[in-house]
Amino acid sequence: MRVGEQHYRSIWFDADEEVVKVIDQRWLPHAFRIEALRTLEDFATAIRDMWVRGAPLIGATAAWGLASEAARDASDAHLEQAADMLLATRPTAVNLRWAVERMLAALRDVPQQQRPEAARREAQAICDADVEMNAAIGEHGLKLIRELAATRPAGEPVRILTHCNAGWLATVDWGTATAPIYKAHDAGLDVMVWVDETRPRNQGAHLTAWELAGHGVEHRLIVDNAGGHLMQQGMVDMVIVGTDRTTACGDVANKIGTYLKALAAHDNGVPFYVALPSPTIDWTLCDGRDIPIEERDADEVRKVWGRLEDGKVVQAQICPDATPAANPAFDVTPARLVTGLITERGVCPATREGLRTLFADMQEVQGNG
Ligand code: MRU
Repeated sequence: MRVGEQHYRSIWFDADEEVVKVIDQRWLPHAFRIEALRTLEDFATAIRDMWVRGAPLIGATAAWGLASEAARDASDAHLEQAADMLLATRPTAVNLRWAVERMLAALRDVPQQQRPEAARREAQAICDADVEMNAAIGEHGLKLIRELAATRPAGEPVRILTHCNAGWLATVDWGTATAPIYKAHDAGLDVMVWVDETRPRNQGAHLTAWELAGHGVEHRLIVDNAGGHLMQQGMVDMVIVGTDRTTACGDVANKIGTYLKALAAHDNGVPFYVALPSPTIDWTLCDGRDIPIEERDADEVRKVWGRLEDGKVVQAQICPDATPAANPAFDVTPARLVTGLITERGVCPATREGLRTLFADMQEVQGNG
């Protein structure tokens, strides 16, 4: 997507410098910084410490991490060790495992001296496919927004609530939850986005708001607790969120707080959609309660980042010194609360049958669901 006048992806291979580059998301929206990732430790740190984040981008970064390691030492032993290190960075987004397994599978039968080039091609293919899948999600989601637009009074926007950042920064480009929004905006439909701030790390306030503003999409930042009230007041026409892992039966793990939005949407008859590319489906699980939920550093809850009036970006503590905190980073929304899954192959019910209808081929290959 555009940043100013220039088009960016969230991750790319700089062929001139022979290095992988990412947008360092820790500093947005206050500063736009690009980082080069060189060593395996760089890639692992970038994922673990959330310079990059969002399920598809975590997978893409791990793929480039393996490609970059293959250029150093393409032996089976080294690649497997590198894969283990990357897999240990964040537990919930299944795209990480998917990308690492795809990279290792692509290199398995390739002679060692050809592996660096093959690995680079595969990582690039993963990134390009992500962009295509998200664009297709955008087209399918656009139809849903169009249908809602037809029910709105003339001149009134379709009001969409989203949680966390499932935007282009969370993917290689387009985003998942935001792709239909960008497509709708580009098609001239009137949309207005309620942006959950998404404590503790404020991905909504920091990233989604920045993205939407950059694309000229009307939006309003709300505190996480406002969604239920707005739905009760008839001020939300649909919810679209992303996901870090969706089971073969349609249970959805996403950023902490998503479940509460789904409950409120259900209670108020607001359609609740989840947008996802197929690498986010875990065909080996059915019950969402089996999804590993990342527990992050308590300081993310105890402190917030912000910009002072003098422009300095600082972290401030918001609780007494001795107060401990818990920080589960994701929750699981049961399939029964999900109106539909917006995938690159179309929209389906959040059920085993729904997913089977769209992805029979993948289910056979990857697991038994
Ligand atoms: O902790 P994060 O910022 O990596 O969490 C991101 C989310 O929860 C997104 O909604 C999810 O990864 C989908 S991204 C298209």
